[in-house]
Amino acid sequence: MSPTQAKEHHGAAPPPVPRLVPLPGSPGRTRPDGVDGEAADDEAGDAVHAAGDGDGLLADEAGAVLPGDARAVRRVDADVSAAVGRVLDGVLDERVARARAVDELFATDLAVRVAEFTRTGGKRTRSRLLWWSLRACGGGDPATAAAALRVGAALELLQTCALVHDDVMDGAQVRRGRPALHAGLRARYAGSAPAGRVGRFGDAAGILAGDLALAWADDLVAETPLAPSTAPVVRRLWSDMRTEMVAGQYLDVHGQVTGSPGLPRALRTASLKSALYSVARPLALGAALAGAGEETLRALDAAGRCVGVAFQLRDDLDDVFGDPRRTGKSPGSDIREGKPTYLTALARARAVTAGDERALSVLDGSLGDAGLTDADLDEVRKVLEATGARAVVETKVRRLVARGLRHLDAAPLDPEAGSRLRGLLRSAADGGRGGPGDTGYAARGGEGRR
Ligand code: IPE
Ligand code: MG
Ligand code: MG
Ligand code: MG
Repeated sequence: MSPTQAKEHHGAAPPPVPRLVPLPGSPGRTRPDGVDGEAADDEAGDAVHAAGDGDGLLADEAGAVLPGDARAVRRVDADVSAAVGRVLDGVLDERVARARAVDELFATDLAVRVAEFTRTGGKRTRSRLLWWSLRACGGGDPATAAAALRVGAALELLQTCALVHDDVMDGAQVRRGRPALHAGLRARYAGSAPAGRVGRFGDAAGILAGDLALAWADDLVAETPLAPSTAPVVRRLWSDMRTEMVAGQYLDVHGQVTGSPGLPRALRTASLKSALYSVARPLALGAALAGAGEETLRALDAAGRCVGVAFQLRDDLDDVFGDPRRTGKSPGSDIREGKPTYLTALARARAVTAGDERALSVLDGSLGDAGLTDADLDEVRKVLEATGARAVVETKVRRLVARGLRHLDAAPLDPEAGSRLRGLLRSAADGGRGGPGDTGYAARGGEGRR
């Protein structure tokens, strides 16, 4: 830890509670994105304020995960996903056992599925970002490390909630290369009642499963002892993050019924529904746990917003152009659902500017057409390419990542951990094509990029 960080770390002043940071497209900060522009690439904004002392208090907590020596923290460094996985195993076993005590059917149908979804899937991106942010900010005494792993595990449970609910909302049938959770339950009870009723049952069960994951995530954070100086910051960040995600998902589904939202709104939706909870907030949580100072938090926040938007724009590109064996989702679901992504909003805007009536009619005729064939989807792909929208979004993703990494230059990060963080941020927006991973999770293909 640098002398400056040490000073921040042990500073006596009580930490201010972080403000909700103005978001891309918020009043006074809107920079309307020209069709070819790169507005909102840089969302430095205000920093989340945090400072404080992460020492002490967590020795018992550390015992379960870390033997309490610095070598244990090094072992986490060597494989963060495995360490988060061990915390999740303990938490999930206990939760499933408690669910069984409540009701066996509920436990088998919902709790076990929520546990398995969380245990076996995904790349642990959010918890790894939190960890490397903590380490890059000089954090990592065993007690704080144990808390970071628990909050990281909670992020993975929050992600289960987000994805399970998202698949109900988006009518998605496939996730991580397997049936979506609600689709699995539907299949389990197919034939028990008319198809429409079983369909509604599947959606209801998916809502409940997501609720359960969120409840477990919240419990995990609430039950993690934190130093008095970091606790309010961490808890406020957690709370803001959940609200932001819900706001983003609302804007997303709202756009599906109200039509093309325009580019600033599409970017704002991407930021709220994904960038903040997937990248910016995990970084902020790691930094807050490390007791990082304001300058560092500001830099990480700005970096996280840029890379986070890049992450979602890559997701939008992958929906149309990605290999389903890698994305683990059915291709074209955004188009069939009529989701107004930045990619499609940009294609529309460019077609209007160019007076390209054919492109407009393909877009308008395809967006929201649930019965779109593969050949129709190919037509949409051609339009996204011919209008230049695909290339512009690809460029924007690269620029956002580069800009995000430049923001990190402003922070006094630990060189080794900072370089791990940079690698992770770079790979977050590359569509799961690889990049520096510390685990089999990152290396295994076909289980989706989220
Ligand atoms: C979902 O966005 C964001 C959250 C899950 C909060 P998408 O709907 O684009 O996600 P995918 O493409 O289904 O993963
Ligand atoms: Mg969605
Ligand atoms: Mg979706
Ligand atoms: Mg998507």
